[in-house]
Amino acid sequence: MSPRKPLTLHRLREMHAGGEKIAMLTCYDTTFARVLDHAGVDCLLVGDSLGMVLQGQPGTVPVTLEQMVYHTRCVAAGNRSAWLIGDLPFGSYQESRELALRSATALMQAGAHMVKLEGGGWTVETVRFLVERGVPVCAHLGLTPQSVHALGGWRIQGRDDAAADKLCRDARALSDAGASMLVLELMPSVLGATISRELPIPVIGIGAGPGCSGQVLVLHDMLGLAPERPPRFVRDFMAGAGGIADAVRQYVLAVKDGSFPDPTLHCY
Ligand code: KIV
Repeated sequence: MSPRKPLTLHRLREMHAGGEKIAMLTCYDTTFARVLDHAGVDCLLVGDSLGMVLQGQPGTVPVTLEQMVYHTRCVAAGNRSAWLIGDLPFGSYQESRELALRSATALMQAGAHMVKLEGGGWTVETVRFLVERGVPVCAHLGLTPQSVHALGGWRIQGRDDAAADKLCRDARALSDAGASMLVLELMPSVLGATISRELPIPVIGIGAGPGCSGQVLVLHDMLGLAPERPPRFVRDFMAGAGGIADAVRQYVLAVKDGSFPDPTLHCY
C-alpha cells in the first residue's frame, strides 16, 4: 500500500463538506505518533490533557508552554502525514494577541501545523490576529478544561436555550474570524450537530454527539488506561482488540463509519 498523502487544511475542509468523518486522537510522544499515523488517524492533537495523562496533575492549568513545545517536537518527530495540532496552554494567549502570537510561533517552530486555543467571544480578535499572520487556528468551545474552575466543574455545557444560543453565536464568530477548525466538548448531541451543520469548517466533537464532522478522544482513555471510570463519551477500543495499533485502527473505522459515538451509549 502506498503511504498516504500528508493531510492538509484544504483536505480536511473537503472531508467536512463531503461528509467524510475526521478521526483525531491526542498524542504526546514519538512512538505513539508513528503508531497513530500508520493506523490512519487524520489529526494528532498534542493536548494539554498531558497535564493529567502524563504528569498526574488534577487538570490542565499547570501545563506550561515549554512543556507543550517539548511534546509537540516529540510528536512531530514520529509523524509523517497526520495534521498536527498543538494546544496553547493556560496563560500563553489570554493576556494579549502579541503574547498569543509568540506562543503560537513556539509551537509552530516545534512542528505544529495549527494551534488550538480555548474560549468564546473574547478569543475572536486573537484568532483573527493569528490567522492574518499565517497561523492556522482551531477554536475550542463548550467544556473548556482551562476554565474548569470558572465553569463550576466538569459539567455538560449548552443545556438551556440561552447557553446553547451563546455557543452557536461564538462558534459562528470564531469561524468568521478565520478559525479553520473547532473542537466542541461535552454538550448535547443536538447542539453539536446544529453547530457542525451551520459552519463551513470541520467541527470535531468530544462528548458532543455523532453529528460533528469528526471525533477526538484522549489516547489513554480510548486505550482503557484511565485510572478512574472514564466519562460517558469514552469507548475503550482495547476491549477485544489485538493490540494498540489494532485498537487505534478500530477507532478510525468506527469514527469513519459513524458507529462511534453511539447515541445510546456515549452521548448527552
Ligand atoms: O487537551 C486535550 O486533550 C483536548 C481534547 C480533550 C480536545 O483539548
